[in-house]
Amino acid sequence: MPTTAAPSPTLAFPPAASMDILFTQAEIAARVREIGHQISTDYAGQDSGQPIVLIGVLKGAAIFLADLARAITISNTFDFVAVSSYGRARVSSGAVKLIKDIDNPIEGKHVIIVEDILDTGLTLSYLRGLMLQHRPASLKIATCLDKPSRRLVPIEADYVGFSIPNRFVIGYGMDYSEVYRNVPDIRLYPEPPAGH
Ligand code: IMP
Ligand code: MG
Repeated sequence: MPTTAAPSPTLAFPPAASMDILFTQAEIAARVREIGHQISTDYAGQDSGQPIVLIGVLKGAAIFLADLARAITISNTFDFVAVSSYGRARVSSGAVKLIKDIDNPIEGKHVIIVEDILDTGLTLSYLRGLMLQHRPASLKIATCLDKPSRRLVPIEADYVGFSIPNRFVIGYGMDYSEVYRNVPDIRLYPEPPAGH
């Protein structure tokens, strides 16, 4: 006998189209072009003659990195790391675990960590410490979004797409429970998930 699922009081994943847009696809593209130009200018005179290395933080930064890498006109390569916070809830203990490390050595290279959102700062301060152990020639941070009011540890990005208030957002790589990463604009999620 087929069973009928109990009706849920709220839609688990409301359609993205029903959510307010914070930044349109066009606004994001324009800002990414600006950052790409800025990075190209900043690294144009770097002495190593080596491509700069973009290290994306999976999975959220994948789409930003894909666009940013193409907006940067100087030679660059990319790599990816993956991290998880213990227990999924992001706790102030700062416990972050590396799930996937970089594939290629970065010693002596100019490195930019590419992140979707700089929120509490726990992820990026952990990753920055880890990457510095590899002795890169330089290490900077590029983030698509910055929520400065949420910071638990002092860390700033060198390149920021947009600074935003404390609202939970989805789209352009950013998820709620793994959904909405493919949404082309950045939109406000209607109710902030627990912990936000
Ligand atoms: P934190 O800076 O260590 O707190 O972690 C930042 C990470 O939390 C980001 O890379 C996102 O994966 C996630 N995050 C923070 N705020 C949001 C949001 O508004 N939407 C989706 N993910 C978020
Ligand atoms: Mg992330």
